[in-house]
Amino acid sequence: MKGHFISFEGPDGAGKTSVLKALVGQLQPLLGERLVVTREPGGDPLSEQLRRVLFDDRNKGMDDRTEALLFAAARRQHVVSVLEPSLAAGKIIFSDRYVDSSVAYQGGGRQLGEQAVWDINAFATQGVMPELTLYFDVPSEVGIRRIAQHRQNQVNRLDREALSFHHRVRHAYLRLLDQYPERIKKIDATQPLDKVIADAKQLLNRVEPGLFDSH
Ligand code: TYD
Repeated sequence: MKGHFISFEGPDGAGKTSVLKALVGQLQPLLGERLVVTREPGGDPLSEQLRRVLFDDRNKGMDDRTEALLFAAARRQHVVSVLEPSLAAGKIIFSDRYVDSSVAYQGGGRQLGEQAVWDINAFATQGVMPELTLYFDVPSEVGIRRIAQHRQNQVNRLDREALSFHHRVRHAYLRLLDQYPERIKKIDATQPLDKVIADAKQLLNRVEPGLFDSH
């Protein structure tokens, strides 16, 4: 069986994590251990430790390049300990965020430059890329409003950035979409959740025909 690596991307408040949960709820009973669900930053014990450092409010003074390097370091460990072995074993990987997040947030949001962020991530990933990226798109104002309404207790250091930061993140995502139309597919995440889930399933069926249909 061939492995598949699919990433889920989007600005804060796009609802991609809820969609991912719904999809996993349906697929897990059918695929069992063939489905690997993971996230970035994180997905591995060392990467989860780096996640805590990245989101800790005590680290408000973190330099932007340090932040980009820590995301890349967490990614490197995740690639080696989870992604590569799972792909080799023919698993289907769903990752809540991957390298496009760094290009959008650190390259665009933090204004480090998209190419500079690709460069450090080329070192980290050694070319391991998703075959499909589902990009959940919402205008920044909508995303921020959703976070304020639903996640009061779980707002992290990045969620609290200014609206201008979130605009830059979204525009960087839209540029990625233009650059990689074959890999990245946009889903309108302002639609009702059911419709967003249906759109995601349709795209996932292309990766492995009948992934959802046949069950
Ligand atoms: P998380 O709590 O996982 O929320 P979400 O549901 O929005 O994914 O937070 C992840 C945050 O980390 C999010 O604000 C995006 C940010 N991030 C980066 O800035 N760069 C990266 O490379 C990654 C993977 C995430």
